[in-house]
Amino acid sequence: MTLPAPNLSLMADREVGVGPHPEPWPDDPRLDPDLLAEGDRRNVLDRYRYWSREAIIADLDERRHSFQVAIENWQHDFNIGTVVRNANAFLAAEVHIVGRRRWNRRGAMVTDRYQHVRHHPSVAEFAEWVNSAQIEVIGIDIIPEARPLETASLPARCVLVFGQEGPGLSAEMLNHCTAVYSIAQFGSTRSINAGVASGIAMHTWIRQHVMPPD
Ligand SMILES: C[S@@+](CC[C@H](N)C(=O)[O-])C[C@H]1O[C@@H](n2cnc3c(N)ncnc32)[C@H](O)[C@@H]1O
Repeated sequence: MTLPAPNLSLMADREVGVGPHPEPWPDDPRLDPDLLAEGDRRNVLDRYRYWSREAIIADLDERRHSFQVAIENWQHDFNIGTVVRNANAFLAAEVHIVGRRRWNRRGAMVTDRYQHVRHHPSVAEFAEWVNSAQIEVIGIDIIPEARPLETASLPARCVLVFGQEGPGLSAEMLNHCTAVYSIAQFGSTRSINAGVASGIAMHTWIRQHVMPPD
């Protein structure tokens, strides 16, 4: 069977988002007058078109999941933005950056604007928060003691924690993990990057706790 060729000129014209809203504007406090006037080309779902950032965050806050994510940031890895973007896509309750405050936002594609991101300068301070929140820390890494993520039962309430390029999870962070899981690999590389690993781990949690979606 031969499939019809796609109309590439039509595809090239596709613009993300919407232009200015025709007047009269809807009477809805969630809508942002600047976006209504200028149009909304943001990287958000169509149902959020023209909504203010605060209104989108408030809506997400109503239905955030009970898992959180943490990533160690001692050397400015480029993948942290991807971890934050995945946390937004899978609706993690919060993202924790452990180590340096500054992180490379490029891969986040501004999704961090809709995400609660908390900074902990050290593992000890992160551990203090863990104790006060009474939440389980689950390491995701390829250490020899790790068990397969594919057969794991992830707790409903947990923080999935990821390590850095090169060293992986620090020994100090591993001390706070109640379990460590690894993702099966089959090629020659030692590891995948933390951004990819975070997407697989978060989706594993989603499949166990919220599938099928509403
Ligand atoms: C590039 S890896 C670290 C490299 C690793 N220490 C090594 O021995 O080559 C960075 C982070 O990505 C995550 N990661 C990468 N591959 C993984 C896998 N197969 N299973 C679980 N986590 C993985 C872990 O959180 C890890 O700390």
